[in-house]
Amino acid sequence: MAPQDLSVESPAGDGAAADGGAPADSAPVVRVRGLVTRFGQQLVHDGLDLDVRRGEVLGVVGGSGTGKSVLMREILGLNRPAAGSIEMLGRDIAAMGEAERVALQARTGVLFQNGALFSSMTVAENVMVPLKEHTGLPRGLIAEIARVKIAMSGLPPFAGAKYPSQLSGGMVKRAGLARALALDPEILFLDEPTAGLDPIGAAAFDQLIRNLQRSLGLTVVMVTHDLDSLTSICDRIAVLVDRKIRVGTLEQHLADPHPWIRDYFHGPRGRAARHAET
Ligand SMILES: Nc1ncnc2c1ncn2[C@@H]1O[C@H](COP(=O)(O)OP(=O)(O)OP(=O)(O)O)[C@@H](O)[C@H]1O
Ligand SMILES: [Mg+2]
Repeated sequence: MAPQDLSVESPAGDGAAADGGAPADSAPVVRVRGLVTRFGQQLVHDGLDLDVRRGEVLGVVGGSGTGKSVLMREILGLNRPAAGSIEMLGRDIAAMGEAERVALQARTGVLFQNGALFSSMTVAENVMVPLKEHTGLPRGLIAEIARVKIAMSGLPPFAGAKYPSQLSGGMVKRAGLARALALDPEILFLDEPTAGLDPIGAAAFDQLIRNLQRSLGLTVVMVTHDLDSLTSICDRIAVLVDRKIRVGTLEQHLADPHPWIRDYFHGPRGRAARHAET
């Protein structure tokens, strides 16, 4: 497919499509086709397809080890698949040179599964890392932007001077989010952002993501095991089963007879999460 110029598109607003997501007709911000991932004898993905629509919050679920984190790393160009194509913002990531990869990196924000803040740096210094790497801004301005991102992520101002080991788990997640937001990304990738948080902390984090997505026009791809997050903030849900992805709304997955999907969404935890919504 030819590269597309996405600059004429406006971010999807609240005028969502009938199935709750962003309009289906706009060019996808991420387009994965025929993805095959192998580690030695282990086949992780086998002909996986996925479109991420501009402006949506897409939840990604699947059993542990089904390849959610690896898929995210492949989309970000950090792992190379055995076969298939991945386009991000209209560009084939395998065909990119280093300069273009770095430029694309600056348009995406990532919160990795393990947080991955530098433990030897304060929160503010962590948030400043991508700004120093990708912008030529003076230090004072970089520090000011870091302060804004820390506040946007719902952290108190004093958190900027703390080291990651001095923060609670929820605060570390927010600090990671502040760093992911540092460069005003168009797409935010979150790998289990609420894992390990108490239910109230997780719900607050979900709402923060939803508010940021709405106010900044972000596209969000969120790997999660948290059924509350899926039901409360995701427009569509991508389920990784049988080494492929089935994507749809919650209602569509509820009608899917696939045994894993049925057990996941109709099991006791799935029912409880849906009832909490109503
Ligand atoms: N660099 C690697 N080398 C070898 N195997 C790997 C590598 N990275 C991932 N794998 C394997 O690929 C499979 C998918 O891993 P991945 O981390 O994507 O799972 P996941 O769906 O994110 O699971 P979880 O929900 O537990 O985070 C696993 O079996 C894992 O052991
Ligand atoms: Mg994972």
